[in-house]
Amino acid sequence: MTKPRLYSGMQPSADSLQIGNYIGALMQWRDLQDSYDAFFSVVDLHALTQPDDPAERREKTRRTAAQYIAAGIEPSRSTLYVQSHVPAHSELAWILSTITGFGEAGRMTQFKDKSARYGADATNVGLFTYPVLMASDILLYQTDIVPVGEDQKQHIELTRDLAERFNSRYGTAFTVPMPVIQKGTARIYDLQNPTAKMSKSAESDAGVLWMLDEPTATAKKIMRAVTDSEGVVRFDRETKPGVSNLLVIYAALSGQQIASIENEYAGRGYGDFKKGLAEVVVSEFEPVRARALELLDDPAELDRVLAHNAGRAAEVADRTLADVYDKIGL
Ligand code: ADP
Ligand code: NA
Repeated sequence: MTKPRLYSGMQPSADSLQIGNYIGALMQWRDLQDSYDAFFSVVDLHALTQPDDPAERREKTRRTAAQYIAAGIEPSRSTLYVQSHVPAHSELAWILSTITGFGEAGRMTQFKDKSARYGADATNVGLFTYPVLMASDILLYQTDIVPVGEDQKQHIELTRDLAERFNSRYGTAFTVPMPVIQKGTARIYDLQNPTAKMSKSAESDAGVLWMLDEPTATAKKIMRAVTDSEGVVRFDRETKPGVSNLLVIYAALSGQQIASIENEYAGRGYGDFKKGLAEVVVSEFEPVRARALELLDDPAELDRVLAHNAGRAAEVADRTLADVYDKIGL
């Protein structure tokens, strides 16, 4: 029996991924890669919606791919590739844009948020059509499931609508994908501002735990994490967002229940708890960091792996695209 197909990706928008990307995405991807025929993409075309230096861009793309592999995404078991290496993504995006309503695209809340933040001058058309490119990413691979965070739910709905619209107008070319909204998945918050999502594109990185940080830098950030004055290691998102966030990280990486961590640190201060957490994070990230740096030491080999995987991706994507061209009369 063939395995159901899974698609996911991340933007190469920083030199390092952060612990939220690891806990919220990479750990799941790693677990899912055996039960699914998984495609994991470094979505560099999406990252073009943000200005960057070309050399930096190239480097961030390589680094992101290296971190996928270092975190346990195996390019022999999963198709791990760079989006722009498969031109079908851009080609299908154009076709899908012609069946996307202007008003429909305008209702995407992520675009509304981003364009409000950037202002009219910094908002580009690519940001507006971003969800159409995302639909193309997913639909090219006849994807059955897309593991995503809550914030991407609307984009997956659009993807489904576009697939159904195309299929009913021109004949079935696409699998209609199901979102798997990762409810149980922990959302990780900024250590300095524990009500804001930790992000690799945060303005300040004082509260961001980078996968590629030196262990001492990671420990320092954890020791400085914002807590509260109660002095009790107890989970309560409402009144203790800082401590709760640290507990969630601890639980996700150690596999322990939050209650058992609370017990372990009962009667001890935040200093002890933070030291314990720093050990948990550093021991998880140390091998990941070492492996990523080793991969980045041999960029030619990494590029070879990525090129090979892009070839595998293109085989599937090109088949879908050829069918679409045929059905639409091109
Ligand atoms: P970032 O905000 O770091 O740029 P992205 O928006 O590129 O992250 O998301 C990449 C993946 O990482 C997505 O699957 C997203 O759900 C996950 N992710 C990002 N930040 C977090 C977080 N703080 N907590 C949990 N998951 C996260
Ligand atoms: Na981002």
